[in-house]
Amino acid sequence: MPHKRHTQFKKPDGGLYSEQLVSTEGFSNVYSLIYHCHPPTAVKKIDEPIDVTPKVVTNKNMQHRCYNGFAVKPENDFIQSRKAVLVNADVHIVLAAPKKSATKYFYKNSDADEVIFVHEGAGVLKSIFGELKFGYGDYIVIPRGTIYQIHFDGPDNRLFIVESFTPIVYPKRYRNDFGQLLEHAPFCERDIRAPKNLETIDKKGDFLVYIKKQGMLYPYHYAYHPFDAIGWDGCHYPYIFSIHDFEPITGRVHQPPPVHQTFEAHNFVICSFVPRMYDYHPKAIPAPYNHSNVDSDEVLYYVDGDFMSRKHVERGMITLHPIGIPHGPHPGTVEKSIGAKETKELAVMVDTFKPLWLTEQAFDIENPDYHKSWL
Ligand SMILES: [Fe+2]
Repeated sequence: MPHKRHTQFKKPDGGLYSEQLVSTEGFSNVYSLIYHCHPPTAVKKIDEPIDVTPKVVTNKNMQHRCYNGFAVKPENDFIQSRKAVLVNADVHIVLAAPKKSATKYFYKNSDADEVIFVHEGAGVLKSIFGELKFGYGDYIVIPRGTIYQIHFDGPDNRLFIVESFTPIVYPKRYRNDFGQLLEHAPFCERDIRAPKNLETIDKKGDFLVYIKKQGMLYPYHYAYHPFDAIGWDGCHYPYIFSIHDFEPITGRVHQPPPVHQTFEAHNFVICSFVPRMYDYHPKAIPAPYNHSNVDSDEVLYYVDGDFMSRKHVERGMITLHPIGIPHGPHPGTVEKSIGAKETKELAVMVDTFKPLWLTEQAFDIENPDYHKSWL
């Protein structure tokens, strides 16, 4: 890296490296400076775009819903494997079971930051910033505009993907004025894994990048390999936070869901429910109370362990408890929870402040009688 930014940075052959500023909110928020072997602008051709807009069946839902996430069919291709189930203007919740690594093309989401929660499988996410090794329980956070390739170790992969149309950040109440995570936060900088092993691929050819924008995939052919950086610095890059590194906040009596909050964006939050000791007041009821979420749709994705407040829960299941009606523990589970010392549950929750719309893919995997399961 040159000592000063925006100055000459020469290659061994005397030519210049190509500097690129990747900036967000215009020039007002986080950014990175990347030094490429070749300009990132050398487009050879653009093929016809492909429409991948989720097929919304209804944007008006007033019913508790339950989906069998693992009923989503595995697909060889990473992009085709992505099935949007619950969407609105702020967020898309997507399930995917890709069998093969994406090696023939690159992918860039220009619409949304992506949080890829790895339920099953392991591998490496490659980008111009370096490599991120991922496995069970990792949240891979990929800021929009990042060209990446996902490589899997094997064919059995289950991903729960959140596409956020505004930046994914840590909760504001856990950050000081300089952005550092505070002492009472359930995780800290040491838990965040940044890209490593930067490999500079200086190659000329035809490199296909599927760029997603406004629900369309634009097949761009570039003349140089997208991972041609010799170096970069800055605060805009993909990273990983593992759900297993989330330190649960517990209390004498039932703690509200915000103690599980991990990320936030405009109009929604992502929370992590992890194994933890139960409430320790002598008369505590560990199971949650009935709850009328007056102004958020609550989505719970069940990962592992047993789920104390629900019956018949399987791994990969999604429940949606919408704005407008109360939800609560299933009959018998409140009494059963009394005296329990700990839970092994692992789940990811997405609470949206605007109603979610249900897609064709959601109806395909729905358990239709769930709304009567409290009888
Ligand atoms: Fe709730």
